[in-house]
Amino acid sequence: MAKIVLDGVDKVYSGGVKAVDGLDLEIRDGEFMVLVGPSGCGKSTALRMVAGLEEISGGEVTIGDRVVNDLAPKDRDIAMVFQNYALYPHMTVEQNLAFGLKLRGTPKSEIKEKVLDAAKMLGLEQFLARKPAALSGGQRQRVAMGRAIVRQPQAFLMDEPLSNLDAKLRVSMRASLSQLHERLGVTTVYVTHDQVEAMTLGSRVCVLREGRLQQVDTPQRLFDNPVNLFVAGFIGSPAMNFATAELTRGDGGAQVAFAGYTLPVPDAVLAERPGLEDWLGKKLILGVRPSDFEDSAHAKPEWAPMAARSSVTEELGSEINVIFAIDAPPVEHKDTADLAEDATEGETDMAIPLTDNKALWTARVNARSNVRPGQDISLAVDTRRLHFFDPASGLAIGLAPAAPAEAADTPPVDTGKAPAKKP
Ligand SMILES: Nc1ncnc2c1ncn2[C@@H]1O[C@H](COP(=O)(O)OP(=O)(O)OP(=O)(O)O)[C@@H](O)[C@H]1O
Ligand SMILES: [Mg+2]
Repeated sequence: MAKIVLDGVDKVYSGGVKAVDGLDLEIRDGEFMVLVGPSGCGKSTALRMVAGLEEISGGEVTIGDRVVNDLAPKDRDIAMVFQNYALYPHMTVEQNLAFGLKLRGTPKSEIKEKVLDAAKMLGLEQFLARKPAALSGGQRQRVAMGRAIVRQPQAFLMDEPLSNLDAKLRVSMRASLSQLHERLGVTTVYVTHDQVEAMTLGSRVCVLREGRLQQVDTPQRLFDNPVNLFVAGFIGSPAMNFATAELTRGDGGAQVAFAGYTLPVPDAVLAERPGLEDWLGKKLILGVRPSDFEDSAHAKPEWAPMAARSSVTEELGSEINVIFAIDAPPVEHKDTADLAEDATEGETDMAIPLTDNKALWTARVNARSNVRPGQDISLAVDTRRLHFFDPASGLAIGLAPAAPAEAADTPPVDTGKAPAKKP
């Protein structure tokens, strides 16, 4: 096992595409680090440079205590698992698992033992004599994982290994992967464009955009303290709601006004976000997570009321997503535009047309809510959890600078999760 360090790593492809731009990242020994970001942001390129499959244009990659820039892939002591697991079709599962060890001249008895160990760990014992064609997609992917495991490398590098599997299988393989990582404790770098996968698997998650690191932190802290509009909109599902707003000082204290609404901004929020007060009287971008809404009938009394008319409701069993239009246009910013573009590339969120250029917001409410499509609903907002962004730079206002790599061991900063004091 080993730590992996990327120090100012660049990748410029022939033709001049800068796929990775000055990437600094430290992956600790035994850590499960997820690289996430929209299509084309440089995730695979970064991983392939660590693996040695792609030449490094600038900077340094270190595995353990060796700089590996000029080391061939086979000498880096890493194992890769790809989306397209290329199993040898004419070999049995056992032979597929043993192949890499055989090449390395590992003694037969040792091969047998390692293969059996890996097969047990992955629940493949009963399939050892089968050929890949007689396996399901999930089982094949397990064999591909097994081939990486038997080698006992210093690190696993995985590029979207689950993306060929159907949704249900992906969830169960995700759980297996987590267990496997607990058991083996091997440093793992895992690439995905699926933020749910990133959040559930990562000890830490690194968000990339256009080859540049945006933020790296634990999943919870990325969710609670996104550094900019891009991360705020990318992490979390349904995505954070945005509106152009004005911060003002009212009779009862600070408040934020947008689209005909006025929400109180608790003193605690002003106190926790240095610099936010300087925005009084100015326009900024307000962000509200769907999960920080509730149907008033189920909300805490101190949450602020906000009335809306639901356009659509999505009943998910455990909760209901209420989609409603606010009386303001969608926020226009490079960050949110990039996000919208990415969303339309993949599975599109919803097929609701923008009516009169009004922004659509989503509130996640209790499954017991009586909300119906087309009806008025009294929502409540946890104002302790409002997010504010600088409309020029897109940066979050009043957030401590990005946590250094070591900081994940220290207790999380106060995210304002504690319930607000009753007035
Ligand atoms: N061999 C190549 N030659 C030139 N440009 C390339 C090459 N491979 C990738 N690129 C470009 O580099 C950028 C990053 O590509 P990369 O494959 O690393 O993205 P990614 O984040 O893995 O995307 P995806 O989620 O779609 O897999 C893209 O703009 C891509 O078009
Ligand atoms: Mg890729």
